[in-house]
Amino acid sequence: MAHSTRADRFLRACRREPVDTTPIWIMRQAGRYLPEYRKVRGTTDFLTLCKTPALATEVTLQPVDILGVDAAILFSDIMIPLEPMGLTLTIDEGVGPRIHNPVRTSDDVAKLAVPDPIAGTGFVMDAIRQIRQELAGKVPLIGFAGAPFTLAAYAVEGGGSRNYTHIKKLMFSEPKVAHALFDKLTETVIAYLRAQIDAGVQAVQLFDSWGGVLSPHDFETFSLPYLKRIVEGVKGRGVPVILFGTDLGLQLERLATTGADVIGVDWRMNLDEARARLPNTAVQGNLDPVVLFGPKSELEVRVRDIMKRAGNAPGHIFNLGHGILPETPVENAKALVELVHQLGKHTA
Ligand code: CP3
Repeated sequence: MAHSTRADRFLRACRREPVDTTPIWIMRQAGRYLPEYRKVRGTTDFLTLCKTPALATEVTLQPVDILGVDAAILFSDIMIPLEPMGLTLTIDEGVGPRIHNPVRTSDDVAKLAVPDPIAGTGFVMDAIRQIRQELAGKVPLIGFAGAPFTLAAYAVEGGGSRNYTHIKKLMFSEPKVAHALFDKLTETVIAYLRAQIDAGVQAVQLFDSWGGVLSPHDFETFSLPYLKRIVEGVKGRGVPVILFGTDLGLQLERLATTGADVIGVDWRMNLDEARARLPNTAVQGNLDPVVLFGPKSELEVRVRDIMKRAGNAPGHIFNLGHGILPETPVENAKALVELVHQLGKHTA
């Protein structure tokens, strides 16, 4: 058995080194399903929470202590760097993120800034330093950013979308303008992630949450080159890069060409297939978040299946296939973490 501990099993798995047991963290692990989060959120709005390092630190640490996960993820949002680019952002109750001056024309794109990450989002770097100090090496801290297509989808649509009509229309009718937008988002994300690494994050995850709505050709044209540029722009700084997307099963081999160390997959594919198609990267995933609604017996069946499919080779980080849902019973999330740690020992 490998001599790793809670403090390093996540980073070791990212590097495909042997571990004492399978590491687990949960996307959106700090959030509304936790009464402790709702208590803090009851005193302030979401964006103020993100912009107040002491509060961001408090909610970042909650799931580390309550669930016993093997990594902390910075409490923030992928939308945060859009504000200093010049976009007016609100996160509305029951609606989600909204951009009140959506990007629709080449003039709109030309007006967007590529902000200095310290001047524009210095509160994020302050939070990172405070979190690292309070974690005191207990578990590593993950930083993150949104992928250009996912950010552009919000910036152009003005909010969440079902059909992505505005962003696709821009891509198909004015590809140069769309590329100029993706280019600015890419430069913003590279500088933002580098600043997070300088402030102390020990891994970074790039969220291409909506990349799966593109055809293979459009993904290759409008998303992949920018993902590659970002991975290249942050690699070589001693910090593993995780690339996560939903509905990107068809694109696994293409995702690997970015040079990401870890590929995150959702539940729409089997993990053994993902591992076979990704021989040189670690994989992260991939439990359907709704399985956490119970019953426990079914949770155990599903977790065992994922662990078996992940196999004995190093390089599996357990996670959900997408973010944990607000109605999730906390005791089931706790049970998941315990189960993974227990079953992981037999495969380690
Ligand atoms: O994982 C974590 O615990 C870290 C924090 C985190 C949040 N958002 C907190 C949050 C992370 C990593 C994100 C990423 C994010 N934000 C993504 C990519 C991940 C994914 O799920 O695909 C996306 C697409 C967003 C945009 C966004 N922000 C959405 C869709 C929402 C939810 C809207 C809603 O009301 O359900 C937000 C708001 C948000 N971000 C909340 C949290 C905890 C809820 C805000 C609240 O407290 O009301």
